[in-house]
Amino acid sequence: MLEALNRIQAIVGNAGVVTDPVRAHSMLVDERRHYEGRAAAIIQPRTTRELAAAVRVCFDAGIAMVPQGGNTGYCGGATPDESGAQVLFSLSRMNRIRDIDVRGSILTADAGVVLAAAQSAVAVHDLPLPLSMGSQGSCQLGGNVATNAGGLAVLRYGTARELVAGLEVVLPDGRVLSDLKGLRKDNTGYDLRQLFVGAEGTLGIISAVVLRLYPMPRAWATAWLALRDIGDAVELLVSLKSRLGDCITSFEYISREALDLVLGSIPETRSPLNTSDSNYALIELAAFDDGAALTEEFERTLADGVAAGLVGDAVIARNEGQRRAFWRLRESIPEAEKRAGGSIKHDVSIAAGALGDFANEAIIATLEQFPRARLSVYGHVGDGNVHFNVLAPDPLAADDFKRDNARSVSSLIHRMACERGGSFSAEHGVGKLKRGILAELGDRVALELMRQIKATLDPKGLMNPGKVI
Ligand code: FAD
Ligand code: MLT
Ligand code: ZN
Repeated sequence: MLEALNRIQAIVGNAGVVTDPVRAHSMLVDERRHYEGRAAAIIQPRTTRELAAAVRVCFDAGIAMVPQGGNTGYCGGATPDESGAQVLFSLSRMNRIRDIDVRGSILTADAGVVLAAAQSAVAVHDLPLPLSMGSQGSCQLGGNVATNAGGLAVLRYGTARELVAGLEVVLPDGRVLSDLKGLRKDNTGYDLRQLFVGAEGTLGIISAVVLRLYPMPRAWATAWLALRDIGDAVELLVSLKSRLGDCITSFEYISREALDLVLGSIPETRSPLNTSDSNYALIELAAFDDGAALTEEFERTLADGVAAGLVGDAVIARNEGQRRAFWRLRESIPEAEKRAGGSIKHDVSIAAGALGDFANEAIIATLEQFPRARLSVYGHVGDGNVHFNVLAPDPLAADDFKRDNARSVSSLIHRMACERGGSFSAEHGVGKLKRGILAELGDRVALELMRQIKATLDPKGLMNPGKVI
């Protein structure tokens, strides 16, 4: 081991090895503080060449490797185990924008570029990268691709997978698979790139990405509205889609309890509507003209929604400040839950038609078992994906509540979602946290194929072992 580590240090130099104990500790604990690992070394290469050479040393010496991006993932996938025998590869120093092809509308960047930095780099060319989420100030493009991240505009632009036009990947034996041409069409054999999207670092380390960019909308229409429940939200979405098509970029649901958590703990927030007994939706449309016609049709559709009893009340943002304020309410929910002691998180998806019934039945079933629990239900209803989070009755006893009940609450919610043909992990992945659930609830044949693919690409089982499968 020592000889291998010395060779790696010679490859990446002193600056490429993290020795500061405070920094190291922050990289060895996961975002949700579920896991704390140890590492034989934390390596931060600067280039693909350095990364590949260091991986090769690990492969030859039989050392297990854990890739890490911004360490914002929710499933413990970027945390090494407790043995102290694994090497953690942090991509943070591989943070170069390689190219912005304005004519081709693609960005090529090192995998360690932080999502917010990538957004700023392309925004000056009026070509937004339509991937956004609450963690964008820390998460990295490589981590976004490795988790197939979703976020707030999936309805219009898809998940990270749909944005990927190319990848460069360091394979577990140190070979580099380079697919950075960014071609729209290329039917030359298997689409290997897709294997690494959502693989959570179990098949190789993504060292660079090519991402699709989109034209900058000229105007937005953003509404905050009150409605009864998720079922009505789905009905409204169906009518919006039929009248406004793919102008709808986001359709987010926010339960009253989730909003109350935000209003109670995030400074300078206030409810856009004076209703206290309903739930809410945040809807955004984008236009490529001045947006006047779109806003008119949006208002008419919402008025029809009111007449049909689907919408209680609605307000459309009058300016950019109000638009930002609506989004701040939605984006602050994870932070507000944290301030309330944290939640037992669930991230389920179900066919649109079944989503409303699932949510109502899950609320009843959870409160039957945990009558005093607080629920925070919200999320990407436009994508069939809700975060059904369960909080302790008392924030001061949150750790005990989560420890004692996480297993039974989650088993209930996951089973209810799967029995209705849904998924127990719509966007946050599997990592270490949901590996057991995947083994229990996953399709047999799919699991067999995943193991075969893993064995082919990583025959020694060195790349992020103990995660996903
Ligand atoms: P990490 O946490 O570092 O790693 C995640 C996984 O990817 C690990 O298995 C790791 O091994 C692997 N990995 C990381 N980098 C690489 C690489 N270069 N090559 C190969 N494997 C790699 N997620 C959503 O999908 N939608 C949301 O709306 C959303 N909102 C969030 C809001 C907040 C406040 C927070 C804290 C998190 C949120 N997340 C969300 C979860 C998280 O931010 C995403 O999963 C993100 O994509 C993880 O990126 P990361 O760089 O932090 O990856
Ligand atoms: C979100 O949609 O805000 C996240 O995916 C959920 C979370 O951060 O818990
Ligand atoms: Zn989400």
